[in-house]
Amino acid sequence: MNSKIGVKILSTGSYVPEKILTNFDLEKMVETSDEWISTRTGIKERRILDKSQVTSDLAYNAAVKAIEKAKISVDDIDLIVVATISGDAPMPSTACYLQKKLKAFNSTAFDISAACSGFIYGVTVVKGLIQSGLYKRALLVGVEALSRVTDWTDRNTCVLFGDGAGAMIFEASETEDDIVSAYLGADGSFTELLNIPAGGAINPTTEETARQKLQYIKMQGKEIFKVAVTKMAEAAIKVQEKAGLKDEDITLYIPHQANLRIIDAVAKKAGVNKDKVYVNVHKYGNMSAATTIVALDEAISEGIVPKGSLVELVAFGAGLTWGACILKINF
Ligand code: ACO
Repeated sequence: MNSKIGVKILSTGSYVPEKILTNFDLEKMVETSDEWISTRTGIKERRILDKSQVTSDLAYNAAVKAIEKAKISVDDIDLIVVATISGDAPMPSTACYLQKKLKAFNSTAFDISAACSGFIYGVTVVKGLIQSGLYKRALLVGVEALSRVTDWTDRNTCVLFGDGAGAMIFEASETEDDIVSAYLGADGSFTELLNIPAGGAINPTTEETARQKLQYIKMQGKEIFKVAVTKMAEAAIKVQEKAGLKDEDITLYIPHQANLRIIDAVAKKAGVNKDKVYVNVHKYGNMSAATTIVALDEAISEGIVPKGSLVELVAFGAGLTWGACILKINF
């Protein structure tokens, strides 16, 4: 690792599909109500990709915006990392589909799988690969087409998820280091709390797995809720401690947008100033790997992240995985 190499963040971009599915629409699909969804989760609506779109199209739209803002050419990108659990296909990677769409053929491309923590895992992977001196300019995308792995007859899950994508461009720098701190965790003893049971080696797809709808997300919501609050609060504190920073140094907190009650409980447990916590879960629901980066891009475009701000992202997801990072936004 060449400790003299820093990582500069050049830009962000995001894209959500046009189609809006409201809680009232869901009332017509399953036995639920706007009141139940709003009070239990804070979600009012979510975006759903069009039949003609796939995951890499969402990623492409977010990436193009970030590339334009960074004022770089696709030919300058030598690393593409895509965080997703709802990619175009089990094989090859969504990063390769995205590379083809972008025509960014000077790049290495691969996916990472860490569910809702995927973007923060990606930040850490990109940081390591740039600091090693192996790559100079990276595109990281957090993207999900969760509507394609959701059982639309299961009210326990279908009210929670949405589709979207966010992108960030990084560059090696001798003078700046915008990834101020990062912290990751995982505990594989909780794999069964949140998973897609079929379509892998454990349960290869058969007519029977399809009949049982095992190709869709299954979740034990109550158990996840408890671990989510504990681990996200822990990550929020540890990432600050690692950098010797305090609550007053952070301009904005962007927690994973799964559930407003989880966000409130984490803020309380971690002792962070609630006024600095960004929330957009009411508009998009849980977009897994896309949530934190879409929220960051929105916050920047709303003008609430002045140049030089420190922004703390915190997330939690299937695995179970969790993580946090503090980013300096200098553009
Ligand atoms: N509408 C109406 N009633 C519902 C719905 C619905 N959409 N869904 C469940 N219910 C019912 C349940 O069946 C249950 O009824 P019962 O008491 O008769 O059995 C009742 O509502 C209460 O259900 P609970 O599970 O106790 O509700 P809870 O308050 O725990 O909220 C929720 C459920 C929103 C899922 C919550 O547990 C949660 O948010 N958990 C965390 C999920 C999460 O954050 N996942 C993140 C990771 S996602 C990823 O990595 C891809």
